Amino acid sequence: MKRTKIIDIFRARTFGFEVNVKGWVRTSRGNKQVTFILLNDGSTMHSLQIVVDRTQFDEALLRRVTTGAALSVTGKIVESMGCEQNADLVAKSIEIVGDCDPVRYPLQPKRHSLEFLREIAHLRFRTNTFGAIARIRHAVTYGIHSFFTSKGFVNIHTPIITASDAEGAGETFRVTTLNLENPPRNSQGQIDYRRDFFGKSTNLTVSGQLEGELAAMGLSDIYTFGPTFRAEKSNTSRHLAEFWMVEPEMAFYDLKDNMNLAEEFLRYLLNYTMSTCMEELKFLSRRQGEEEKNKKPEERSMELLRKLDYVQRFEFMRLTYDDAIEILQDLEPSDKEQFKYQIQYGDDLQSEHERFLVEKYFRQPIIITDYPKEIKAFYMKQNPDGKTVRAMDVLFPQIGEIIGGSQREENYDKLLNRMKELGIPEKEMWWYLETRRFGSVPHSGFGLGLDRFLQFVTGMSNIRDVIPFPRTPNNVEF
Ligand code: 4AD
Ligand code: MG
Repeated sequence: MKRTKIIDIFRARTFGFEVNVKGWVRTSRGNKQVTFILLNDGSTMHSLQIVVDRTQFDEALLRRVTTGAALSVTGKIVESMGCEQNADLVAKSIEIVGDCDPVRYPLQPKRHSLEFLREIAHLRFRTNTFGAIARIRHAVTYGIHSFFTSKGFVNIHTPIITASDAEGAGETFRVTTLNLENPPRNSQGQIDYRRDFFGKSTNLTVSGQLEGELAAMGLSDIYTFGPTFRAEKSNTSRHLAEFWMVEPEMAFYDLKDNMNLAEEFLRYLLNYTMSTCMEELKFLSRRQGEEEKNKKPEERSMELLRKLDYVQRFEFMRLTYDDAIEILQDLEPSDKEQFKYQIQYGDDLQSEHERFLVEKYFRQPIIITDYPKEIKAFYMKQNPDGKTVRAMDVLFPQIGEIIGGSQREENYDKLLNRMKELGIPEKEMWWYLETRRFGSVPHSGFGLGLDRFLQFVTGMSNIRDVIPFPRTPNNVEF
């Protein structure tokens, strides 16, 4: 008999038919006459209750029905009495597909801490929380492709291995086939990367943007969407060494067009998630509520669904870096006390400042533009003031920076000068510079951190819990 996914049984809302289901036992309880098994196959939050008349089955077989065991069950769907779900399955035959040693199986039918579940990431897909997050992650990914597809953007697969450091922050992971014990050296005694696989030093990409810009200079509207690698030492709840970023790049867009697109995009994704993953969001909202019971009222976050709805109801507040610094510096001393760092003009905003502006001062998402050029990447369009660049950061509650982007410098001489100032080898970047020679146009783009976005929609406080296998300093298990 063909297998039916459990979600399709709940959706059918009809009874009396026979099905085969396959999945993993969440719990098995009952008495001498009847056993109730909750079976979950990951297609939905909800487990199917299987009713087993013990007199019809072999005792030895039933003893193997333990939490974690994989079963194939055939039987009749009946309307459920009292149970949360509309249907139960009355078992006719049960096959143990995979036994599960109940003594050694680490997942018990109780709430485990997120820290513990990270240590058993190979099994955490079997929990409601990680099942919900995986389905939401999938839906958001699909939503990203559908948003850009509907606008005529072309998805470009940019390389993972590159010879450039787009952000210029130097936080790259090296890629090499050289023998690290005894690398070839040149006459000056330095490692000779000409002898490496690609004939030069290479690293994992920190952004697909530079190649994305090349594509936009012919296709107009493109986006890249892939894994991104940064060897930042920041061991925080918002940083991963390997994260997923979606980067649209648009020809003939100025900074304002860029902001408008970023805002429309985020609003679309929030809406899309709420319309496709309501069950999951409700579950995560209850979860967050329970977790926060121990917190002081002022430290609790807004209820998840209310937060998602709230954020997309207001237009994002737009202000310049200068304005933001002025606000932060003009605060009452009692407000300033909460900051670890006192900010000066020219400093990058710390996440405590970002969150203060979003959560306490404006109480809505904000977009900060026109940052000092010293704290932003070389490719950003220079403002006439000679001090600032056409950068934009979108800041969200709970997260801080969720999007970073800019209008790009399309003027050949200005771009080249900036590269020289920063010591970026022009010889290595000849291809990037050439687009400013051959039909250069104003263009803009931004990058959304998928994992940060997911942290926001799921309400998870640690980014390690929204990606199946997080990579962070000293953490590469699984
Ligand atoms: O602000 P960033 O560094 O911008 C860029 O990489 C540009 N090339 C984007 C562009 O204009 N095409 O990174 C963009 C976003 C951040 O706002 C954040 O959401 C996410 O990527 N991000 C990280 N997410 C998780 N872990 C990290 N270590 C991250 N670093 C950046
Ligand atoms: Mg940034």
